[in-house]
Amino acid sequence: MWKNKILDLVKDFKHPAWGFSHFSRIYELSLELAKTLQFEINKDALFAAAYLHDIGAFNPYRQKDKDHSDVAIENCNEILGSTDFPSEKIPLVKDIIKSHMFYAKPKDNIESKIFHDADTLDFMGSIGIARILSIVGKEDWTPDLQSAIKLIERFSKELPQSIVTENAKEIGKIRKKEMEQFLKNLANQTKQYDLI
Ligand SMILES: [Fe+2]
Ligand SMILES: [Fe+2]
Repeated sequence: MWKNKILDLVKDFKHPAWGFSHFSRIYELSLELAKTLQFEINKDALFAAAYLHDIGAFNPYRQKDKDHSDVAIENCNEILGSTDFPSEKIPLVKDIIKSHMFYAKPKDNIESKIFHDADTLDFMGSIGIARILSIVGKEDWTPDLQSAIKLIERFSKELPQSIVTENAKEIGKIRKKEMEQFLKNLANQTKQYDLI
């Protein structure tokens, strides 16, 4: 069954910020965001996209100088085509993956919008803070703790603006407050970040 084959392919992709647990989280969150919609969404496409969208960050898929979204898209036909995944849904999987990042404009279908928002929300709130702090010194985004704190501050201000669906906007408001509270406490405990 195609779901097991995909899970098997990515089960060892472990990373504190992006990897198997992130894939599972945003699949669940996508379904939650879709709950109040009046129409059916394509859950198969969302599942495939959730577990494949960041494979471009892992070997053997990783390609230097190429956006990880494009790398994942390039591998969709081969990966999904070798399973019993319904082939007519592959273009939608590619659409969802193409625009999943907060800096991308979501494609004009509800699955892409929901998924883009779920991936963006995972950079917010307590989970967003945990993920950003987990990559300090390991990724270009966060060479040191100071830069990670600046990134948390920037994300708290900018990410709500890139959320497009109504349910996600509500969750975004809560997660923004969590980040603001964290930053406020941290500033109080570190002489306004001086002692970090
Ligand atoms: Fe990504
Ligand atoms: Fe992601």
